[in-house]
Amino acid sequence: MKRDFTKILDLTPDEGIYLLERAAFMKRMRQTRGEYVPLRGKSLAMIFEKASTRTRVSFELGMEELGGKALHLSAAETQIGRGEAISDTARVLSRYVNAIMIRTYAQKTVEELARWSTAPVINGLSDLYHPCQMLADLFTVRELKGDLRRLKIAYIGDGNNVANSWIEAAILLGLNLAVAFPEQYRPAPAVEGLACDKGNIIFTNDPMEAAREADVINTDVWVSMGMEEEKNERIKAFAGFSVDEKLLEHAKKDAIVMHCLPAHRNEEISESVFERFQDVIFTQAENRLHAQKALLEWLMVEV
Ligand code: CP
Ligand code: NVA
Repeated sequence: MKRDFTKILDLTPDEGIYLLERAAFMKRMRQTRGEYVPLRGKSLAMIFEKASTRTRVSFELGMEELGGKALHLSAAETQIGRGEAISDTARVLSRYVNAIMIRTYAQKTVEELARWSTAPVINGLSDLYHPCQMLADLFTVRELKGDLRRLKIAYIGDGNNVANSWIEAAILLGLNLAVAFPEQYRPAPAVEGLACDKGNIIFTNDPMEAAREADVINTDVWVSMGMEEEKNERIKAFAGFSVDEKLLEHAKKDAIVMHCLPAHRNEEISESVFERFQDVIFTQAENRLHAQKALLEWLMVEV
């Protein structure tokens, strides 16, 4: 049966751990210049309704390194942009390619594509989730900090697609997660609802509470793609939620700061914190490649 990756909770805990281990294998393989081409003759269609640097490059290169091919489809330049039904696009693309990645607005679009496609569908970011980012982030935390369940992980900022994916990751793997946001920018109610009886996840409006004794602090932009019109009111509402040196005083001495990028310096993260943790942040970006290669292999290679 084909599998899709529309959100983190599409995985079982064992599958999640398996993908993190395979990501480590992919990284070692690349560092030692080993050739590993299990996707020879396979192809991935990548539909973009929003901008992207990392997701596009890491999927495109990932397919090539595994021996396959990726096709970049900007929604505006295809019939999708002129209103062709997702159900038809899904059935057409499934006749050509072996998997489809989509970056879009509504999560419903990803789910509709997955429903009609006979090839696996990957969510490359929707307004609700960013699960590929989460695979890379979990892999990065594991690589830099070890056993995920022994850590306190904080997410500070907008209750957006990245926050929702952290919450699902915490549910899946039993992580200790503290999420801090201004009240009007809570995570999605349905996702928060899944977490409400889990003692390992804290929701708060106090960024210091989330940062206290944290091993890992994550943040993301206050104005996500598609929300540009809300920029001014958002910047005001997020005052006090910037990950800066003062907030970091509450975290463990050896805490790391992560950012999925792109970053807005001196909004969600201060210039000095960004530069102090630039190696972590760019390793996180690099790890998109390794984690997605693991995902592509898992979805496209019959075992
Ligand atoms: N983090 C991330 O998804 O980056 P892009 O928007 O550049 O793909
Ligand atoms: N929350 C951000 C993530 C960008 C990778 C957005 O949706 O724009």
